Amino acid sequence: MKKTVLIVDDDPVFSSLVSRTCTRLGLDTQAAASWSEAKALLEKVEPDLVILDYKLPDTECGEVLPELSNQYPVIVLTGFGSIRHAVSVIRSGATDYLTKPVDLDELELTIRRTLDNAALARTCDFYRRQLHSLRPGSLIGDSPAMRKLREMIDMVAPTDATVLIQGESGTGKEMVARAIHEQGRSNARELVTVDSCGLQENLFESELFGHERGAFTGADRQKKGLIEEAAGSTLFLDEIGDIGPTIQAKLLRVIETGTFRRLGGNKALNADARFIAATNRDLQRMSREGGFRVDLYFRLSSFVITVPPLRERREDIPVLARHFIVNFARGAPKHLSNAAEDLLMGYAWPGNVRELRNVIERAVILTGRSAEIGPEHLAFAPARGSDRGITLTFDHEPTLEEIEARYLRKMLVRYGGLRYKAAGALGISERHAYRLIEKYGLRELPDGQSAEGSGATTDSDA
Ligand SMILES: Nc1ncnc2c1ncn2[C@@H]1O[C@H](COP(=O)(O)OP(=O)(O)OP(=O)(O)O)[C@@H](O)[C@H]1O
Ligand SMILES: [Mg+2]
Repeated sequence: MKKTVLIVDDDPVFSSLVSRTCTRLGLDTQAAASWSEAKALLEKVEPDLVILDYKLPDTECGEVLPELSNQYPVIVLTGFGSIRHAVSVIRSGATDYLTKPVDLDELELTIRRTLDNAALARTCDFYRRQLHSLRPGSLIGDSPAMRKLREMIDMVAPTDATVLIQGESGTGKEMVARAIHEQGRSNARELVTVDSCGLQENLFESELFGHERGAFTGADRQKKGLIEEAAGSTLFLDEIGDIGPTIQAKLLRVIETGTFRRLGGNKALNADARFIAATNRDLQRMSREGGFRVDLYFRLSSFVITVPPLRERREDIPVLARHFIVNFARGAPKHLSNAAEDLLMGYAWPGNVRELRNVIERAVILTGRSAEIGPEHLAFAPARGSDRGITLTFDHEPTLEEIEARYLRKMLVRYGGLRYKAAGALGISERHAYRLIEKYGLRELPDGQSAEGSGATTDSDA
């Protein structure tokens, strides 16, 4: 579809010059010689761009600009070549300005750039809305614990306070962080999430703080960090317990002073973000034992929200289960049999809501066309010790392959021989796991489980 440009200028020669330029760019044009003519045209056409002369016969440019630029991109033509005019025009919302006499190349470039930017902004807007509709909805659950949690969220959201969210894995910490952000003042912008684990410390540092050009080998241009990206929004520091001492120190400084520096830079920049941190570790204990800076812990813990584990709010289980069934069963209504519900209620849910979600997803698939989810469709993760760590001992310096083989075997045993679960825990595809199982001859596990069996839930390894 051709784009339309509205030209508002009382000089017919100039107006037709601009019009010809637009035509050359493949644009439709409409011309008005006064503001009243322009207004009449705007009743009928929806321009993609307005080119407006600063000196109009029947009104002041400054009068109409704020409202006009609210609806359309506007390029203002000033006849004076004065920077003061330019500034005031841009302040009133104009996208750009040009001085008369206009250089045709410059005119062409400015029109193109303005239209491109507007198209980009629309695309952004579209995806932002999409993201909103994809977003997992609100926190489900009406137990006293959840009600208390919602109260805390409502209380802290409108303040700019730093919040620490604690809770076991899968309890919904990220959802809580999103809820705080969305109910907060900075909700017009996307939440910026920092995943604190998995990156090398120096990479993570530049990710977070950004760097100047030449800050280190390979830094061939300046890069903004996530703290800068989160300006006017919320920075969510996920798994804060996993960050190393260097970054802890820097983060403390950011939170205390509200300023930071890019790597290799010496300008102090303002950190204009709200901070929310989450952890499934006991930060207080870590700080007592030296694994986490005490002063940073104090800064973060001025407002702590603890998300209780699912086993401490069992009345939420059926509600959550139904919510996930509706989510996964898409239009084909299914329900839990009483026996199945009893099983869900009696289970310990070490993986909390995420585990419940996974169990339901699997159950919905397993029931096929049947409308009732029964106990036979529910598969729980093998019982595990509370310690999720792994220790491999060798009586010699092992090769990488030996470590790989031993580790894979250990995970297969831990997950009751369920290949997909072991693969999930190892962060590899099931097919890759299959290849490794073949490679290391792990089809038969020591305690008689087979590496493809399903349902065996013993864990001789715990
Ligand atoms: N109250 C709830 N209502 C609906 N869905 C929930 C609720 N709590 C958690 N979930 C869902 O459970 C899953 C895990 O939640 P989330 O990622 O927020 O947990 P987490 O505490 O951040 O976990 P981890 O510590 O492993 O990062 C998500 O799919 C989330 O949508
Ligand atoms: Mg999380």
